[in-house]
Amino acid sequence: MKIIQSPREMQDWSLGCSQSIGFVCTMGALHEGHLSLIREARKRCEKVVMSIFVNPLQFAPHEDFNAYPRTFESDVALCRAEGVDILFCPEVSALYPENFQTRVLGSELKKQYCGQTRPIFFDGVLTVVHMLFEIVRPQMGFWGEKDFQQVFLVEQMVKDFWMPIEIIGMPIVREPSGLALSSRNAYLSEAQKQEATCLFQAILAVQEAALVGERSIQNLLGIARSKISLEIDYLELVSAKTLERLEGSLNGPARLLIAAYIGDNPKVRLIDNGNV
Ligand code: PAJ
Repeated sequence: MKIIQSPREMQDWSLGCSQSIGFVCTMGALHEGHLSLIREARKRCEKVVMSIFVNPLQFAPHEDFNAYPRTFESDVALCRAEGVDILFCPEVSALYPENFQTRVLGSELKKQYCGQTRPIFFDGVLTVVHMLFEIVRPQMGFWGEKDFQQVFLVEQMVKDFWMPIEIIGMPIVREPSGLALSSRNAYLSEAQKQEATCLFQAILAVQEAALVGERSIQNLLGIARSKISLEIDYLELVSAKTLERLEGSLNGPARLLIAAYIGDNPKVRLIDNGNV
């Protein structure tokens, strides 16, 4: 595995590569969720590039940019073991030099759900993802449905800008307890991890209720709410096709989206979602 820090060197490698490139874009602190993306990329592409870059542009000043878990040595070992060809890990000053000025502004969807509490988040994500796509020049990008809204916004950007990249969404990887894997789980105690499984319990309860015929959005959300012992940021049933908020009754593929807070110091925001 080759480790590349320079954006120019990375882009030169990609421009000279005659084989298909699969790209997994991350902020590091790798876990099985990230590894599942590498494995799919290896199956479908001849070369796999993984990026590790904690992107300051997507963190608000009060958020956890400085505290975000950084586990570079073990990340390198995991990438090697999984057969990543190139690990791209640029410095912040390389991607955002002092005169960096251009931004990608996401579609209207960026204002809802995660975007409501994190108003600058998706523009920060899309700006760095656009830049990484230009540098890595993949044919396929592998994305976790853990960040369901993120995959949607990335797909919209790729479509709007005619970027020749296929976006592949991959299922959420969970702990045996049901807790969705997340780099931010590193902030949680064992007891908090146990408590956080209520998000998955809420998804299961809504799936079961829908299966036996409950169609009322209000009732389904009530069932979810009754399972969640954490402070809820948002809880919505949305169309799985458009991500529009659903009202009235369920009449097609939907997705339950949840964000909730756990703990005081630090106060950790967790997200989860599931098909309904
Ligand atoms: P990060 O949280 O590191 O996630 C990188 C990728 O791993 C994303 O596509 C995310 O959806 C996926 N992922 C995370 N947890 C997962 C899980 N439990 N199961 C399956 N996939 C999972 O998302 C980001 O970084 C950043 O916003 C980024 C796109 C890198 C831009 O900075």
